[in-house]
Amino acid sequence: MTETSAREMIRWAKAKSCEEPRAVFVLGVELAGSAELVGIASLTVRDFALREADIGFILAREHWGKGYATEAVRTLLAKGFGPLNLHRIYGECDPANPGSARVMEKAGMRREGYMRESRRQKGQWVDRLLYAMIESDWPGGLSAGAAE
Ligand SMILES: CC(C)(COP(=O)(O)OP(=O)(O)OC[C@H]1O[C@@H](n2cnc3c(N)ncnc32)[C@H](O)[C@@H]1OP(=O)(O)O)[C@@H](O)C(=O)NCCC(=O)NCCS
Repeated sequence: MTETSAREMIRWAKAKSCEEPRAVFVLGVELAGSAELVGIASLTVRDFALREADIGFILAREHWGKGYATEAVRTLLAKGFGPLNLHRIYGECDPANPGSARVMEKAGMRREGYMRESRRQKGQWVDRLLYAMIESDWPGGLSAGAAE
């Protein structure tokens, strides 16, 4: 991401955060102890009635492989199944991006399918992998319910 596109994305995220009802939550991934923004992770409510959202994440290349994306996805899941009271959170990735699939697996999401030619990219049909978690899979959800 260039600095210009990063600034544009931050402006867009700020504008989205003011919408009512709020559907878009973009988290900045910052290094502990500094204000350096090294990535983002987002959660977007796609259907308020179904309480369903999807997630996305991207990290600066020099910070890959340190567990940051997994930490960010776990944070989104906690927000989604906690204060946002969502029922289902899903994420998609390119099957040729095993790092991204692994992040969702490590965060506890389940692989639900391989969606053939489900997107158009640069004039071509492309396949996608689908991962999801539902509220009863969320560790905090069931134990919190059982304790009540
Ligand atoms: C995908 C991405 C977010 C991962 O971020 P990250 O902070 O490096 O992820 P983590 O360190 O939390 O975990 C990465 C996992 O993928 C694994 N992995 C990475 N590349 C891999 C590869 N080519 N093959 C197999 N596993 C791979 C790592 O080993 C690690 O798993 P492990 O902890 O079991 O060893 C980062 O690579 C990125 O920003 N890519 C470009 C944008 C993108 O693809 N976003 C996702 C769109 S769906």
